Amino acid sequence: MEEFIAGWTVRHGATRDRLLPLLHAMQEEAGYIDDAWVPTIAKALNLSRADVHGVVTFYHDFRRTAPGRHVVKLCRAESCQARGGAAIEAAAAQRLGVAMGETRADGQVALEPVYCLGLCAIGPNALVDGRPVARIDAAALERIALEVAA
Ligand code: FES
Repeated sequence: MEEFIAGWTVRHGATRDRLLPLLHAMQEEAGYIDDAWVPTIAKALNLSRADVHGVVTFYHDFRRTAPGRHVVKLCRAESCQARGGAAIEAAAAQRLGVAMGETRADGQVALEPVYCLGLCAIGPNALVDGRPVARIDAAALERIALEVAA
């Protein structure tokens, strides 16, 4: 990742305000921001490691572990919670074999929270590999489990 960071800063700048764009570019490239890369990022942008670590951990969108081959994001915002989101989350964790916020040991699927997809009236909702799925119920959850098993 050192080469990626060096090349990116040559093209886009190495000032402190480049941190968020660099982190987004790294996540797009690698799928996550490894803690081991923080010192290199800090050095490249003349920031402290604490500065970089603070930003990476503050924003939920930055993953700190490699993603699964499939990513299921369940909405945890109010409307979806009021429509049974917590029960769906528990059922999803059991059916997919992975706890919320984690990637299954075989790397096949990650289960992550998301906070409102703008589909509140037809929740509870999910994103399956970036595709919105509305009105998640037991049957929909089973279809998702079969889809991510492939
Ligand atoms: S609260 Fe879940 S989509 Fe808005």
